[in-house]
Amino acid sequence: MSSSALSGDALTHRVRVWDAPLRAFHWLLLAAVAAAIATGLLGGEWMVWHGRAGIAIVGLIAFRLAWGVLGSETARFAQFLPGPGALWAYLQGQWQGIGHNPLGALSVVALLGLLAAQVGTGLFSNDDIAFAGPLSARVDEELVQSLTGWHHRLVNGLYALIALHVGAIGFYAVVKRLRLVPAMVTGWQEVPRSQLGPRPAHAGAFAVALSLGLLAGYAASGEWQNGLQSAPSTSATSVTAPTSDASAQAAQPGSAAASASSGKATAAPAW
Ligand code: HEM
Ligand code: HEM
Repeated sequence: MSSSALSGDALTHRVRVWDAPLRAFHWLLLAAVAAAIATGLLGGEWMVWHGRAGIAIVGLIAFRLAWGVLGSETARFAQFLPGPGALWAYLQGQWQGIGHNPLGALSVVALLGLLAAQVGTGLFSNDDIAFAGPLSARVDEELVQSLTGWHHRLVNGLYALIALHVGAIGFYAVVKRLRLVPAMVTGWQEVPRSQLGPRPAHAGAFAVALSLGLLAGYAASGEWQNGLQSAPSTSATSVTAPTSDASAQAAQPGSAAASASSGKATAAPAW
C-alpha cells in the first residue's frame, strides 16, 4: 500500500492484488500457449517446438495448481471460486472484493481446465508423420487415435475461451472503465479504502510450487522412460526431430513414424 487518493467520492488506495509469481505465470502461459498454437498450425519441423511449448504448459499448470493452494490470497482457489450466492450478488452488481470477480473466476477455471485437457491429449497424440507425444507409446493405438482426434477438436474450444477472455478484458476497459491489464503487469490496483490487500503466500510456497511444476514437466516430457529402455519387455516412447522426408524417417528404427506403425519405439525423446 504505497499511496492513497480521492477517486470520485470514495477514498481509494493502491494494493498489490496479484503477487509476482502469479503475474509471471500469466505472461509465461500466454507466451507458451501462443507458441503451442502457432507451431501446432505450422506443423512439420515446428512440431518439436510444439512439444516443448506443451511441456512448459504442463509445468505452468502444475505450478498454478500448487499456487492456488499455497499462494497469496487472491491466487487461492478457495478464495475466488464462487458459490451461487456470490455469483448472484455479482450479477446484481452487489459484489465487492479484490482479485477475480465471481464470473471471471469461472472463466479462469474453464481456461485452466481446457488447457489441461489440451496438453493431456497432446501428450498421447501422434501425427502419424514425424512427431508423437512423449507418452503416446505407452497406450494402445486406438486410444492414441481417439486422443489425437480430441486434441484437434478441443483446440477450437480453447480459441473460443481465449477470445472470450480477451474480449471480457476489453469490455471492462471500454464499458466499465476498469483497466485490468496494468494490474496483471505491475500487480498494483487502486481499490476502495475498505478493501485490504491480499494475505501473502505461505513461507516456502514458491519453492514448493516451482518444484511441483518442474516435476510435472519432467513427468510429461517422457525423459524418465530412458531409464526403462534396458528392460526388453518395457517400451519407451519416441519423439524425434522431424525431417522433411517422412518416408526416409519411417525407415529409421526408433523414429516417431516407425513408432506410429509399430506402436512402440526405443529412441530417446529429442527434447
Ligand atoms: C495447450 C497446449 C497445446 C495446444 C494449444 C496445442 C495445439 C495444437 C494445434 C493447433 C495442433 C494442430 C491441429 C490441426 O492441425 O488442426 C496440434 C497438433 C498436435 N499436437 Fe498439440 N497443442 C498443445 C499441446 C500439445 C502437447 C503437450 C503435445 C505433446 C507433447 C502435443 C502434440 C501434438 C501432436 C502430436 C499434434 C499433431 C496431431 C495430428 O496432426 O494429427 N500438443 N496441437
Ligand atoms: C493465450 C492467451 C491467454 C491465456 C491462456 C490466459 C490465461 C489467463 C488465466 C489462466 C488467468 C487467471 C490468472 C490466475 O488466477 O491464474 C488470466 C487472467 C488475466 N489475463 Fe489472461 N490469458 C491469455 C491472454 C491474455 C491477454 C492477451 C491479456 C491482455 C490483453 C490478458 C490479461 C489478463 C488479465 C488482466 C487477467 C486478470 C483478470 C482479472 O482481473 O480477473 N490475458 N489469464
